[in-house]
Amino acid sequence: MQFPSVDPIPVPAPVWLMKVLSLVTLALHFSAVMLLVGSLLLVLYHNTRGRSRRDADQVSASFVLARRLPVIMTYVINLGIPPLLFAQVLYGRALYTSSILIGVLWFAVIPLLMLAYWLLYRIAPRIEKGQSVLLITLVALGIVVGVGHIYAMNMTLMLRPEVWQEMYARSPYGLQGVSGDPTVTPRWLFVMSGGLVFGGLWAALLAGMPHLSAGTQAHLRRSGGGMTAIGAVIQVLCALMVVQTQPVAVRQALVSNALYPGAGLLFLGAIVIAAVLAVWQGMGTHSRVPIAVSGLAAGFLSTLGAVVYRDGIRDVTLLQRGFDVWQRTEVSNWSVIVLFLLLFVIMLGVLYWLLRVMQRATPPGEQVVVP
Ligand code: HEM
Repeated sequence: MQFPSVDPIPVPAPVWLMKVLSLVTLALHFSAVMLLVGSLLLVLYHNTRGRSRRDADQVSASFVLARRLPVIMTYVINLGIPPLLFAQVLYGRALYTSSILIGVLWFAVIPLLMLAYWLLYRIAPRIEKGQSVLLITLVALGIVVGVGHIYAMNMTLMLRPEVWQEMYARSPYGLQGVSGDPTVTPRWLFVMSGGLVFGGLWAALLAGMPHLSAGTQAHLRRSGGGMTAIGAVIQVLCALMVVQTQPVAVRQALVSNALYPGAGLLFLGAIVIAAVLAVWQGMGTHSRVPIAVSGLAAGFLSTLGAVVYRDGIRDVTLLQRGFDVWQRTEVSNWSVIVLFLLLFVIMLGVLYWLLRVMQRATPPGEQVVVP
């Protein structure tokens, strides 16, 4: 057995329940990450182009996207915490080991996120003052994709117990990265390229806000349609790369369980629908919110499909190395589980109420003048 055998705490809820919650919250986390990456790319595009053409509507499009960046970051972080808790409970022996092995990088995520957050807050005010945001947005984007790479390294290192001993001997202080694993880059690129898909869908949705000028709406709508379509093609190619770089035994095991090909098809079908809806919106003369919302829903479903497939890669790989997550000792604490589910439903109600309040509030002025 290559995994540390000391695991004194049994799983406090059925494994299937933990998995369902982990998959749904991780799909939400990925969606938020993609929204962040895509929004940053679109801010760069609209701001740079708008300033060079002295097009106030296009600069305003960058402002509309930039104003929402800090809020998106809160979702990235808060929706990252639940899957982190579930992954630790279910796969602690693997995940703790890999986290310690690259400990310095892993902890670096916290100051990096704080820096990125600070930069995100500064982008919109700079646009409002007519200043360039090229550098600040590029740095924020670099940090965000860098953090994504650290996550990809850890989530793949946890699947390779065969290299742990050697890595520990090389650097017991955790001052190292991960090398020699062909699956890391495709997995990282897969999530990052989803930025194009979600950023585009997000821009198409924002284009429907009635307080924006017709010009700003058109910039958001057209860029959103184009970016989603390009992103969908790139993300499908990245998905193929992810599958291709898996060892043959893992690929065979994935095919033999109907859940995973099904999840792959869900990813593919939903991403095609998302792209078609975004292009339809982008080519139209006005913005239709129901189409944009349906596009985002399709984007979420495609992410959910990818997340289930990704979970299959983890379970199959670990099983082939002697770790069967379904065999974890379970001692369910039902009063806590029921309380958790109750609070979860209450939270959904509060979220709905917050959205209603937002909908009724007086819209802010979002038209920027170009100096
Ligand atoms: C800018 C910030 C972030 C980015 C760009 C990002 C990106 C990513 C990416 C690319 C992955 C997939 C790695 C792979 O499987 O190859 C991932 C997984 C994950 N992220 Fe994030 N992440 C960010 C912040 C966070 C934060 C703050 C948390 C938690 C507090 C978090 C929790 C997780 C968890 C738990 C997983 C994997 C879950 C699982 O395998 O079950 N992330 N993230």
